Amino acid sequence: MSDLAARFRKLWDEIAPIGRDAGSGGYLRYSLTEPELRLRDWFRDQAEQRGMPVTEDGNGNLFAWWGDPEAGDAVLTGSHFDSVPHGGAYDGPLGVVSALLAVDELRDAGVTPVRPLAVGAFVEEEGARFGVPCLGSRLLTGALPAERAAVLRDADGVSFAEALGGAPAGARPELLGRFRSFVELHVEQGRALADTPDAVAVASAIWPHGRWRFDFAGEGNHAGTTRMADRRDPMLTYAFTVLAANKEARLRGAHATVGRVSVEPNATNAIPSRVTGWLDARAAEPDTLTGLVEAVHDKAIERARRDGTGVTLTEESATPLVAFDGGLADRLAALLDAPVLPTGAGHDAGVLAGHLPTAMLFVRNPTGVSHSPAESATDVDCAAGVAALARVLGELTC
Ligand code: GLV
Ligand code: MN
Ligand code: MN
Repeated sequence: MSDLAARFRKLWDEIAPIGRDAGSGGYLRYSLTEPELRLRDWFRDQAEQRGMPVTEDGNGNLFAWWGDPEAGDAVLTGSHFDSVPHGGAYDGPLGVVSALLAVDELRDAGVTPVRPLAVGAFVEEEGARFGVPCLGSRLLTGALPAERAAVLRDADGVSFAEALGGAPAGARPELLGRFRSFVELHVEQGRALADTPDAVAVASAIWPHGRWRFDFAGEGNHAGTTRMADRRDPMLTYAFTVLAANKEARLRGAHATVGRVSVEPNATNAIPSRVTGWLDARAAEPDTLTGLVEAVHDKAIERARRDGTGVTLTEESATPLVAFDGGLADRLAALLDAPVLPTGAGHDAGVLAGHLPTAMLFVRNPTGVSHSPAESATDVDCAAGVAALARVLGELTC
């Protein structure tokens, strides 16, 4: 194992147990809960060890600075610590750990950046606790008003403002204006690199995507005594809608997933009174995405009529097509001799890309699995990611 791979492993092992569920082997690192707060403390400690002061933006995002935080013209890197329920180890933390190690690499090489370098840890990237993905970067950029974020609630009814310990600050244009560029390193979330000689790629674009909540209302009743013909069962409308989403996505070469459902009263011997399903839909083109969601909605309405149920659709978040800065992507691809790939996954980089030149580096994932305990990357590839990030940051901060 190379020196850098060994250093990666050593730092990685410090956080590996935090928030790990012994049963699934996956991570429960919901933002601003105990495991994620421990990771944030670990981040502060690592920054302190490197003599990097940490600032917080009033929205839950942390920044560790190499150079003067007030100077402006800074290069930002980093990612997030939070996970989806029972998620993998790499999605998020890899970008933060790699950024800290890239600072070490640059220092070991005797580099003194002309511009400040900031390592960021964004809050609630997955939206697994409060429902809106990239909540921290949306707040920082003003894409989501602070008043809306403040009242988002988790499954226990705790609001984002309560979890944060106060109302979020919202848009911070003067802070955003201090960054000249952002580079987020992330584990690849498909098999695009798995069978290639390349350990690292550069991102070209993020598919437009969003989350839609379908509420199906029916009549709660007895499972044993209610005649089949008399039922108004929202589970049927829900089930049909899930199948329709899959079919409509396949027809369009798009992606549709219903990965979360809630049922009332959730009893084996009761016909549900209400079912809520969350649709995650993504497509390469915005019109395809709009057409997909409309088609699924139409199918749900048609089925609800047959089932005697009601259906309402609510958009919970929407992220437009992100085309990363072409000049920057080409520059990094040439510097690293790396391929350029689009992705269907969302990232804080996608939000920041609307405000400053932004790029992403992807590290090879041998299984291509993500948002699952099976997500993986080898130490050797992670070290290649750190080395690539250090080269990029060295170039951008000069
Ligand atoms: C975030 O990882 C997403 O794409 O949902
Ligand atoms: Mn993710
Ligand atoms: Mn991520």
